[in-house]
Amino acid sequence: MACRGGPPPWRALNSAVLVVLLASACSAGMCPPPTFKTLDVQCRWVLGRPVPCDAPVSPGTTALFSCKPQYRLPQSVRDRRPGAAAAAQHPEQGDYGLESAVCQEDGSWAPLPFTCVPECGRVVGNGETLVVDGKPVNSPLEFPWHVAIYDRKHKKGIMQVCGGTLVTPKFFVSAAHCFVGAQLLASTEVQMRPPAEFAAAVGKINREWAAAEETAQKRDVKQIYINGYGGRRLNHVRDFALVEMNLAVDLHAYTMPACVDWGLQERPVREGDVGSVVGWGGLFKRPVSDTLQIGSLPFVAKERCLQLVPAQMVQYILLNDDRFCAGVMNGTTVAHGDSGGGLTFPNRDRKHFLQGVVSVGMPDARTLSAFTNVTPFVRWMADKIQDEEIRAAAAIRLLPLEIPKEYTASDLEEEQRVAYFREDVGLNLHHLHWHSYYTYLGPRDQVEKDRRGELLYYMHAQLLARYNGERLSNSLPKVKHLNLREPIKEAYYPKLDNLVSSRVWPSRPPNVRLQDINRDGFKIDVEDLERWTARIYDAIAVGYVVNTTGGRLPLTEEGGANLLGNIIESSAVTPNRQLYGELMNQGHILISLAHDPENRFLESYGVMGDGAVALRDPVFYRWHAHVWDVMRAYKDTLPGYTAAQLSFPGVRVLGAEVRSEDHAKPNELLTHWQASDLELSRGLDFSPRRPIFARLTHLQHRPFAYHIRVESAADVPRDAYVRIFMAPKLDERGRAMHFRDQRHLMIEMDKFHTILKPGLNTLKRLSSESSVTIPFERTFRNLDANRPGGGRALTEFTFCGCGLPQHMLVPRGTEDGLPHQLFVMVTDFARDRVDQVLEGSCLDAPSLCGVFAGRYPDRRPMGFPFDRRPAGDRVDTLRSFLTPNMFVQRVMVRFRDAVEATVRNTTRFGTTKGTVKVTHGDPVPAFGTVHRDHLGVPTVGYA
Ligand SMILES: *[C@@H]1O[C@H](CO)[C@@H](O)[C@H](O)[C@H]1NC(C)=O
Ligand SMILES: *[C@@H]1O[C@H](CO)[C@@H](O)[C@H](O)[C@H]1NC(C)=O
Ligand SMILES: *[C@@H]1O[C@H](CO)[C@@H](O)[C@H](O)[C@H]1NC(C)=O
Repeated sequence: MACRGGPPPWRALNSAVLVVLLASACSAGMCPPPTFKTLDVQCRWVLGRPVPCDAPVSPGTTALFSCKPQYRLPQSVRDRRPGAAAAAQHPEQGDYGLESAVCQEDGSWAPLPFTCVPECGRVVGNGETLVVDGKPVNSPLEFPWHVAIYDRKHKKGIMQVCGGTLVTPKFFVSAAHCFVGAQLLASTEVQMRPPAEFAAAVGKINREWAAAEETAQKRDVKQIYINGYGGRRLNHVRDFALVEMNLAVDLHAYTMPACVDWGLQERPVREGDVGSVVGWGGLFKRPVSDTLQIGSLPFVAKERCLQLVPAQMVQYILLNDDRFCAGVMNGTTVAHGDSGGGLTFPNRDRKHFLQGVVSVGMPDARTLSAFTNVTPFVRWMADKIQDEEIRAAAAIRLLPLEIPKEYTASDLEEEQRVAYFREDVGLNLHHLHWHSYYTYLGPRDQVEKDRRGELLYYMHAQLLARYNGERLSNSLPKVKHLNLREPIKEAYYPKLDNLVSSRVWPSRPPNVRLQDINRDGFKIDVEDLERWTARIYDAIAVGYVVNTTGGRLPLTEEGGANLLGNIIESSAVTPNRQLYGELMNQGHILISLAHDPENRFLESYGVMGDGAVALRDPVFYRWHAHVWDVMRAYKDTLPGYTAAQLSFPGVRVLGAEVRSEDHAKPNELLTHWQASDLELSRGLDFSPRRPIFARLTHLQHRPFAYHIRVESAADVPRDAYVRIFMAPKLDERGRAMHFRDQRHLMIEMDKFHTILKPGLNTLKRLSSESSVTIPFERTFRNLDANRPGGGRALTEFTFCGCGLPQHMLVPRGTEDGLPHQLFVMVTDFARDRVDQVLEGSCLDAPSLCGVFAGRYPDRRPMGFPFDRRPAGDRVDTLRSFLTPNMFVQRVMVRFRDAVEATVRNTTRFGTTKGTVKVTHGDPVPAFGTVHRDHLGVPTVGYA
């Protein structure tokens, strides 16, 4: 209101007179009426007497603000209020509490009032509980976040085509497929229609655009955001849209956003939780309805869903990691016009949180429907919406959760000493990515990769060698191979939630005996494994395997290991599955069901049944020791390498040394614990997880460099391959290890190409350049960002996660220093090289992961020169094995039992202050208890 000048107001008048005076008398010193969109205001004058607020007011007037009923105080105001906690006891002053400002002599209000933020997710109905069969919505109050989306270009006029869910006054969430033209829907290109072709309305009960409804507010669509939507060709993967309207809607009791779990601190939805969906699309067997309907749909875990839905639906659920199912088989279902609508679940305060978006259903089939999971999109939405309160919610709640090292067992359990290795999140990610790229599923052309079977062996053999090294560092004996008829003495209690199927991974108590599995027709006998093992040993003894037509495939020196690897993990490239079975994977399954072989207790499989978490269980290593004994037996049939195969004439390694950063003493490797704050965006590629900011304690080493002195007698430069291995020097009893044992403990540290100039060369190589590791940041990269939708790009993205995490390069060692032997060998690159053009960006860990879509970049057998028994009987120590192109250096691996903290800048929302320590079993009200999901990625939930 503009001031018209005049005398100052009469200060002592009663309020009724004041109104009259103010209307005519406004001065430069008056404050504008304190009206704000989100605030209710009361003005007080001398002695607290109420005065009207809808006109300019005089200096000295106090305005008391409170949030309008559909709004609440922003977090920042709540935080600075004295006694904020006490206020929460008084709801009338808590969320809607009062703040004040005073009209100043210069006509301004101070302090500036705050803006309240919308309340969300409150059903303001008549309190009736909803029933599974659904009922028409009686009042628009009940689900005030439902948005109707209209197609302005529809041939029948402006037509409701989809639903949406209000998440802020200006934004709503819907399904991406709603905004694609019908003809385009079928094509391979995803092309969105222009926003101007759509309109949105809130507060509507009647489906007709033109229906006269006081509560309705209509808006234009300003912008449609999608994120990775794959269209029909990719089963509508990431069927999710965030839509911005041209203007914010006014919030009332009948128009309010649904809550979004911005900070991801709500309990994850579980099997049996009942959600609500609203729509006009002909819910419950009726044709398209004219009035809004409500349905109640129970959440159904993916595993059960896949068994229940008709075949046509399976592809949408199985292949899309961002979907979940809900519904009952005989009642409510969602239909065409419901697409994009929200499935909300009440939390324990009965606030409705948006969890799903209606995506794919079969209206006539009385079956479950598939919903796009909102969780993977939450961070992305927060970025798009650009709302301070939402960003703050996302950031504040990303305080790191501390994951204790001693999580799955106490120190009474001696196997716990190497839990840091088994349960390392990065190591498990490596294993998962390896198997995802070198898949055993699918047709031949998907499975077949250069030397796949041999690499399968070598990667696992290296994991075993590393595990044994860690065991020696912890005074534990080497892994004993699993005898299928003896009880498994190692127990495993994973304490992990599997969020995909909303269940907890089952435990295996000590001394479980393997038994035949017979679960609803699914059978594996222990004897099957024994028979397959025996047949493979027979093949090794006779030197060939037999194919399905009786032909003999010889186990040659070049191809034998690859062939055996492909037999041991059965796939489309296995020559004879009938005869040699599926040893490796069926063993995993049999062990993973050992706690409930007949499904008597309806328990699902344990961690051994999933490549993402199998490494955590001590029995993994015992089983693999059993499996790969077969390969060792085969390798023992091969002749030892001859001097000609081992040597590099004219090349001598004169010395090799390691130097740790900032450490004066040479040949000492230093390890310690490190606490890293990580944003584990999902932890896994293939299942939606909650992003989490976690503090993990993991092994770490001081960066170091190798300095290698090599002499070349040639008078021209020569290409060479430098191969570096390391193994403990002493066995578990403290005696110098025999070569025949030590060679199985050799871990590959690095392998690199170099050019030797004539004469003396000093090679320097950094530990971070290792050919077996990938950088820390890549191991824990954000799996949601830039993730391709499918095809070769996705395969390569997956491949990029393969490689030991950099922090696991060096074994732990001991506090006194554990003596190791570092072995350096320089070989002739002319005979090792593989000619190929190296493409792609992830070439860091070729020794364990190969080359994406290329050939293994080393012609020698994997593990060379330690993969075979030495020629001759005289080699009993590593030193007696050496030829002039090799060198051995004694290296101490010294461990400091202390945690160094590194706060990494990994969150897009900036860094957070402080940490919240959550130990297992202690409920912490602010955060609930930590459940580690799949992979030990903690999830936060209310107990
Ligand atoms: C639908 O199925 C559920 C569970 O099988 C059953 O309890 C319920 O009675 C059924 N309802 C109708 C209407 O058939
Ligand atoms: C089996 O091996 C023989 C001889 O090596 C070969 O001729 C035959 O095609 C193979 N059969 C199959 C089914 O691969
Ligand atoms: C932290 O990360 C953000 C986003 O990646 C970047 O813009 C910022 O410069 C980083 N800050 C530091 C201190 O490295």
